[in-house]
Amino acid sequence: MAHLIAPSVLAANFGQLDQDVEMLNQSTADWIHVDVMDGRFVPNISFGFPVLQAIQKKATKPLDVHLMIEHPELYIEQFRAAGADVITVHYEACPHLHRTLQQIKATGAKAGVALNPHTPISLLSDLIQDIDLVCIMSVNPGFGGQKFILHTYQKIKELKRLIKEKGSPCMIEIDGGVNQENASQLLAAGADVLVAGSFVFQSQNPPQTIEDLKQIAL
Ligand code: DX5
Ligand code: ZN
Repeated sequence: MAHLIAPSVLAANFGQLDQDVEMLNQSTADWIHVDVMDGRFVPNISFGFPVLQAIQKKATKPLDVHLMIEHPELYIEQFRAAGADVITVHYEACPHLHRTLQQIKATGAKAGVALNPHTPISLLSDLIQDIDLVCIMSVNPGFGGQKFILHTYQKIKELKRLIKEKGSPCMIEIDGGVNQENASQLLAAGADVLVAGSFVFQSQNPPQTIEDLKQIAL
């Protein structure tokens, strides 16, 4: 399957969010990545339901909602109602992860699990079959524009092995510090979805940058 590009609106201009979402609609982006931060799970606060609803109103592409929040299980139905197509929770925030994944699936959304850089892939071995997407964090969550962590390549390969071994249909997403330089190596290692925030929105020509990431061949 061809890889997917999911630009992160965390790096968009919130003063003209409609225009930035329309740019993504017109571009070759596959998904729109939406980062929700609560100031507790991560040391930063981004936005919540009203902004997600505004994005949904305008967006013509699936919304890939990344919850960097404590107790995500309290808000799953609300995020679905606000437009989330993929709902990703953090492994580190979910003591009852299996239950939370079932809760997400019951809403009709795809269920994702994100792993912080220090969280090993092996912790997913007993529930990889229940996950639609694993988001490997290639920076510490909380901020855009950080430096890519090189150990990520190793984790992608390990996750790819686990997915194969268990026959899971799970996709591999990479989030943080993705750019034109590391993208092809990420895809070669087994990534299916690349999230990119500052690399897209701080470029001279965002739609072209998205298309360049989309065109990367192995
Ligand atoms: C980081 C967020 C990322 C962020 C990526 O906590 O989860 O999605 O927007 O931004 P860049 O691509 O700038 O690292
Ligand atoms: Zn994210």
